[in-house]
Amino acid sequence: MLSSIAERRMSSSSLLVALAICLALLSPGSRAQLSSSFYNSTCSNVSAIVRSVIQQAQSSDVRITASLTRLFFHDCFVDGCDGSVLLDSSSTIVSEKGAVPNNNSARGFDVVDNIKTAVENACPGVVSCADILALAAEASVNLAGGPSWSALLGRRDGTTANITGANNLPSPFDSLTTLQSKFSAVGLGDTDLVALSGAHTFGRAQCRFFSNRLYNFSGTGNPDPSLNSSYLTTLQQNCPQGGDGTTLNNLDPSTPNTFDSNYFTNLQNNRGLLQSDQELLSTSGASTASIVNSFASSQSTFFQNFVQSMINMGNISPLTGSSGQIRSNCRKVNGS
Ligand code: HEM
Ligand SMILES: *[C@@H]1O[C@H](CO)[C@@H](O)[C@H](O)[C@H]1NC(C)=O
Ligand SMILES: *[C@@H]1O[C@H](CO)[C@@H](O)[C@H](O)[C@H]1NC(C)=O
Ligand SMILES: *[C@@H]1O[C@H](CO)[C@@H](O)[C@H](O)[C@H]1NC(C)=O
Ligand SMILES: *[C@@H]1O[C@H](CO)[C@@H](O)[C@H](O)[C@H]1NC(C)=O
Ligand SMILES: *[C@@H]1O[C@H](CO)[C@@H](O)[C@H](O)[C@H]1NC(C)=O
Ligand SMILES: *[C@@H]1O[C@H](CO)[C@@H](O)[C@H](O)[C@H]1NC(C)=O
Repeated sequence: MLSSIAERRMSSSSLLVALAICLALLSPGSRAQLSSSFYNSTCSNVSAIVRSVIQQAQSSDVRITASLTRLFFHDCFVDGCDGSVLLDSSSTIVSEKGAVPNNNSARGFDVVDNIKTAVENACPGVVSCADILALAAEASVNLAGGPSWSALLGRRDGTTANITGANNLPSPFDSLTTLQSKFSAVGLGDTDLVALSGAHTFGRAQCRFFSNRLYNFSGTGNPDPSLNSSYLTTLQQNCPQGGDGTTLNNLDPSTPNTFDSNYFTNLQNNRGLLQSDQELLSTSGASTASIVNSFASSQSTFFQNFVQSMINMGNISPLTGSSGQIRSNCRKVNGS
C-alpha cells in the first residue's frame, strides 16, 4: 500500500516533469524552475536569518510556528505562492486579510515583517516575500519538532490580491469531495490533501469553526455522531452553546505544540477537531482512509510525504524570472 502511493506519486511527478519540459520547449524562457540554491550567491544565509527570527518569536509565542505554516497555505492556494496574503488594503488592493478564512484568524504578519526587515538588512532587495513564507514554513515545522528540508526558492511577489480567491479557500465545513476538488484545482491530489492536513498537528482553532459539530450537527438536534464521546464532552466544556466563538482549542489534543504524526492517530480515535479533518477518515468508505492509516502507523512516512507535499504546494504557479517584483515591504506593492 505504501509502495502504491509512492509509485503513483512517482509516475505523476514524472508526468509533471515531462509536461514542464514540453512547456519550456514551447515557450522558451517563460517558466523558470524554483531551486534550493536560488540565493546561494545573493543571500547565502537567508534560511538561517529566517529561522533565527522565528526562534526568537517562538520563545514568547509557542503558537507562532503553526500560524506561519498556515500563512504559506493561504498564500499558495490563492493565485499561487506570490505573497498576496501579506498585502494590506490600499487604493488598488482589497486585502485577502479581510476574507472569511483569514479575518480574525490568520496571524503572524508582524513576525513576517520582522523577518523581512532582518533579511533586507543582510541582502537588500533580493529575497521575495513569497520565498520568505516558504522558508518560514520550513523553519516553523522543524522548530516544532517536524522534518527539515531544502525549500525551493526563486518566487517573485505579485502585485495583486484576490479576496474572492481567499474566500474560496478550503473550509472546515467542506465535505471530503469538496476538499478534493479544491486541492485538485491547484494540481494537488489525495496524498497532498492528507499529508498537508497533517499540519493540524499543531496550532489552535476557534470554537466558531467547529461548534456546529457539538450541539446540532446538520440540523439533527444532536452532535456529530463521528465525534469521540469523551472528546465531545471536553469540547462542549470549552465551547458552550451560544458562548464566545473565538475561544481557542488545540487542533491536536494529544501533543498541541509538537509537529508529529499524532494528528492521524487522533483521527483513528475519532478525535479530529474540524469536520474537514475527520472527513479524511470517517465518512463511509473515505477514499483517503488508507493514506490516513499509513501516516498514523509511520511518522517517517508522514514526514516524507509532508515534505514532498509542501514542495508541491510551493510550486503552485509561482512568478519567476522578470514577472512580478521583489517587494521592499511585504504589506505593499512597490511604489504604492
Ligand atoms: C484541508 C483543508 C484545510 C482546512 C479546511 C483548514 C482549516 C483551518 C481552520 C478552520 C483553522 C483554524 C483557524 C482559526 O480558528 O482561526 C486552521 C488552522 C490551521 N491550519 Fe488549516 N486548514 C486546512 C489545511 C491546512 C493546510 C494545508 C495547512 C498547512 C500546510 C494548514 C495549517 C494550519 C495550521 C498550522 C493551523 C493553526 C494556525 C494557528 O494556530 O494560528 N491547514 N485550519
Ligand atoms: C548552495 O548552498 C548550499 C549550502 O551551503 C549547498 O549545500 C549547495 O550545494 C549549494 N548549491 C549550489 C548550486 O551552489
Ligand atoms: C547567519 O545568520 C544567523 C542568524 O541571524 C547568524 O547567527 C549567523 O552568524 C549568520 N552567518 C553568517 C555567515 O553571516
Ligand atoms: C473583520 O472582522 C472585523 C471584526 O469582527 C469586522 O469589523 C470587519 O468588518 C471584518 N472585515 C471584513 C472585511 O469583513
Ligand atoms: C480570483 O480567484 C477566483 C476564485 O478562485 C478566480 O476564479 C479568479 O480567476 C481569480 N481572479 C484573478 C484576477 O486571478
Ligand atoms: C437544530 O437546527 C435545526 C435547523 O437549523 C432547527 O430546526 C432545530 O430546531 C435545531 N434543534 C435544536 C435542538 O436546537
Ligand atoms: C475515544 O478516545 C479515547 C482516547 O483516545 C480512545 O481510547 C477511544 O478508543 C476513542 N473511542 C472511539 C470510539 O474512537
